[in-house]
Amino acid sequence: MEPYLLFSKDTRSFVYNMQVKAVQRMLDFDFLSGREKPSVAAMINPGNTGTHKAHWGTGEILIPIHPTIGSATEAHPDVDVMVNFASFRSAYPSTKEALLNKRIRVVAVIAEGMPERKARELSFIARKMKKIIIGPATVGAIGAGAFKVGNTGGTIENIKEQKLYRRGSVGLVTKSGGLLNEMFNIISHNTDGIFEGVAIGGDKYPGSSLIDHLLRYEANPKIKMMVSLGELGGDEEYRVVEAVKSGRLTKPLVFWVMGTCSKVFPAGVQFGHAGAKAGVETETADAKNSALKAAGVVVPKSFDTLGEEIAKTFLKLEVDGSITPIEEPETLPNIPMDYADALKRGVIRKPTSFISSVADDRGEEVVYGGYPISEIVHDGGKLGDVIALLWFGRKFPKWASEFIELAVMIVADHGPAVSGAHNAIVTSRAGKDLISCLCSGLLTIGPRFGGAVDGCAKHMKRAYNEGMGPRDFVKDMKNRNIKIPGIGHRVKSLENPDGRVTLLIEYARNNFPKTDLLDFALSVQGVTTQKKSNLILNVDGTIGVLMVDMLYATGFFSKEEVDRIVDLGYLNGIFILGRSIGLIGHSLDQKSMNQGLYRHPWDDILYQVERKE
Ligand code: ACO
Ligand code: LMR
Repeated sequence: MEPYLLFSKDTRSFVYNMQVKAVQRMLDFDFLSGREKPSVAAMINPGNTGTHKAHWGTGEILIPIHPTIGSATEAHPDVDVMVNFASFRSAYPSTKEALLNKRIRVVAVIAEGMPERKARELSFIARKMKKIIIGPATVGAIGAGAFKVGNTGGTIENIKEQKLYRRGSVGLVTKSGGLLNEMFNIISHNTDGIFEGVAIGGDKYPGSSLIDHLLRYEANPKIKMMVSLGELGGDEEYRVVEAVKSGRLTKPLVFWVMGTCSKVFPAGVQFGHAGAKAGVETETADAKNSALKAAGVVVPKSFDTLGEEIAKTFLKLEVDGSITPIEEPETLPNIPMDYADALKRGVIRKPTSFISSVADDRGEEVVYGGYPISEIVHDGGKLGDVIALLWFGRKFPKWASEFIELAVMIVADHGPAVSGAHNAIVTSRAGKDLISCLCSGLLTIGPRFGGAVDGCAKHMKRAYNEGMGPRDFVKDMKNRNIKIPGIGHRVKSLENPDGRVTLLIEYARNNFPKTDLLDFALSVQGVTTQKKSNLILNVDGTIGVLMVDMLYATGFFSKEEVDRIVDLGYLNGIFILGRSIGLIGHSLDQKSMNQGLYRHPWDDILYQVERKE
């Protein structure tokens, strides 16, 4: 590549630090400019490896991530530019390392606040090694249609608007990064566009100077005119004056030194940039503008007429035939808008994949069924209230939410002998983790064990609504060949009543406005226990019928809604939730006692396997 060129269409770079947005902007620029290969070859994330996924047009590409500059240059020998997004603390060592690396030719340093001593050292190294630093404290640079440093040029709309996706005839160099975009805008409206644009940064000791870039532009035959923006403070502009006078700069140059307003302030006032401070008269913007003008540089009357002067200078070049008309591409590749961006601007919509009415986690705090968790806690809410909100989306009256909580407490455990606990214990002793033990126990819950809550509610409700008497109902279920869910217990009976059932009924009698379905279920028990005294209304059944009584009594639900709640399995949820507490207890209990593998004793099994001769 010619030494006067900063970038070409094949320039490849490293981006130091995970500036994913800047990388995407670089890739979008590449795509728009018709580059074949992405300009970002890899990212450097100190100490980390991996890949970063980014968009390339409508598709996606993976950009490798390297832990060091060394490993990155090893892996990507074609890279000679580093865009350094390191913080002001690490910008110095990382830039120095890049400059000393034989493959890196250009380093753009974005960080502000690098100590002047260190910036001078970097500039010295760069000059000695014939390398180029852009910055520090800059947005970067752009080679129109070739390569873009980080966020230079702004959004893809700006890039299109200012035709930065293809080369024009103007070389631009400014001190200010902030004004670079404005200059792109002015130049694109008054000429055939930018060939290259650089912001050297507003520090007192920039890594490269205005004259460095102007001399490159002078040497570049494709650049027909130059535009530069200086700034009060320092003496850089006088080097331009000397170069014009000595004939080293011959191309038309439009120059404006910013900061002419400083004369109304006392001497020594600093203007934004670290270097923008005029100590002596010659450092003022007025003095520099006059010197430039005297040397033959085109200097407008004010910044406002800069565009006009640029237009006039360009027109002269057009008239004398120095400018070859640029063929504009008929169409530009389309860069799709990012989804999040498009959504924000309201230009797209998409159907959602989920509906959820349980909780909303998007704000500062989670909202349970419409109530922020802090409000529930401060109002003295309990577990029963949380279940009511998350499952039923309602704030239940106290008597109802307390009933739910009581039911959860009551079914929490029934000792190690019951089916679910047994399985959790065996699983725990087989060395499985807690979640496996819990699941093993939960998977045991079903129509015979703990899972008869819904079934009881469903059948009792149907019989009650149809106006059946208890005896007819028992007969009806027998005819259907269905054991009445919620009736019967292996060890509990009329003689050995289940205390849990007594507690639930006692609570309902004292707190529920009505217990119609419970009363019907107890009359069914009257019939079944005539046959066998263990055919009592069991704990599942009691919860089932009382939940129906409760749902009706809250006044929140229609008959159809209650039917649906029962059909969908809400009521079994009470047993599942409560019993999880006991199952976790049993699983951990076995582990804490370090119980070994359980093997069922042979003498407890009747083997019915005949030996075949
Ligand atoms: N409805 C009508 N008849 C019944 C019921 C019932 N729910 N349960 C038992 N019977 C009858 C049987 O048909 C049998 O009659 P038979 O002698 O004429 O043949 C007799 O009672 C004894 O039946 P078993 O199955 O031997 O009774 P067992 O005491 O072993 O069963 C069990 C207990 C499994 C709970 C049983 O009553 C049942 O399946 N009930 C329904 C399911 C249920 O509610 N499970 C939850 C229990 S509580 C809990 O797990 C937390
Ligand atoms: C339980 O709560 O687990 C039961 O009522 C079942 C049983 O066998 O005791």
